[in-house]
Amino acid sequence: MTTPQIHRPRRRRRTDALRRLVREHQLEPADFIQPLFVVHGERVTREVPSMPGVHQLSVDQSLDCEVETVRSLGIPAVLLFGLPASKDEIGSENFAEDGIVQRALRRIRERHPDLLLFTDVCCCEYTSHGHCGVVRDGVVDNDATLEILGRVAVTHADAGADIVAPSGMMDGMVRAIREALDGAGHADRGILSYAVKYASAYYGPFREAADSAPAFGDRRQYQMDPANVREAVLEAELDEAEGADLLMVKPALAYLDVVRAVRERTSLPLVAYNVSGEYSMIKAAARLGWIDERRVVLESLTGMRRAGADAIISYHAKDVARWLAEEAG
Ligand code: PBG
Ligand code: ZN
Repeated sequence: MTTPQIHRPRRRRRTDALRRLVREHQLEPADFIQPLFVVHGERVTREVPSMPGVHQLSVDQSLDCEVETVRSLGIPAVLLFGLPASKDEIGSENFAEDGIVQRALRRIRERHPDLLLFTDVCCCEYTSHGHCGVVRDGVVDNDATLEILGRVAVTHADAGADIVAPSGMMDGMVRAIREALDGAGHADRGILSYAVKYASAYYGPFREAADSAPAFGDRRQYQMDPANVREAVLEAELDEAEGADLLMVKPALAYLDVVRAVRERTSLPLVAYNVSGEYSMIKAAARLGWIDERRVVLESLTGMRRAGADAIISYHAKDVARWLAEEAG
């Protein structure tokens, strides 16, 4: 009788070629969406203090240059956020034909016919109170907000957006936007729903980048409680039923179990948002020399793919594309 062989998984880890051969998940530039912040003014390239490497860009050479870089690295998509010239109760610039995002869309579309243009559709950057909808008696009025979101989405589609991404966590937002787009002749434009968005402290640096912190209270009456995961599946199912084309889970790193749970309950493409706080923590620790930025970023983003994300929105997208090119090169 022969002695039973012990299993030796290490045999498959012996050389780099072998490790690559049996690798289960890959990162590719084609999986990434690069967020961009557009502002009024001329020749503005203003770095966000809490997000080194991320800039507010004016809609001129500043934006052109950044978009060129993104394109040249093989990143297929950008996600636009706008900072308006002025804010008011309902956020009027949000649905203005010549609003900041609408102008950016037209400019990019003219120069890059095949770049995927995603837009964030929300009110918080545009409203004087900084909430994600119309405020009545101190509360965000869900249904009054839906009409505004529909108008915003249509102006974005008119200006060339491929996919609009509502992020306000209003009930019925996907259906309202779908109806508005269809009614305006944009049946061919898609919706990426921020279906599962938590009330997270990880958005801190973004609120500096987009100047969108709420003036009173917080967002816990509309964004999800970090303690819940069954509710995430429910939110995803509702948005799928309302006609979402892609779903998102946000933030990503502290919610990989949620990415997995949603992945297993829908056939729609799933996007993870590697949010501002996740980016800033890595940048800060790397600056202190406490971690290896490149390895930590690639490991974190690989974890998001492994959890079930098809695509990733990340401020590290350009860095990742450069690193992947070096590794392949
Ligand atoms: C707007 C919006 C936010 C983010 C994306 N869209 C902020 C918020 O909800 O407070 C966060 C993105 C990030 O932190 O990178 N509703
Ligand atoms: Zn918002």
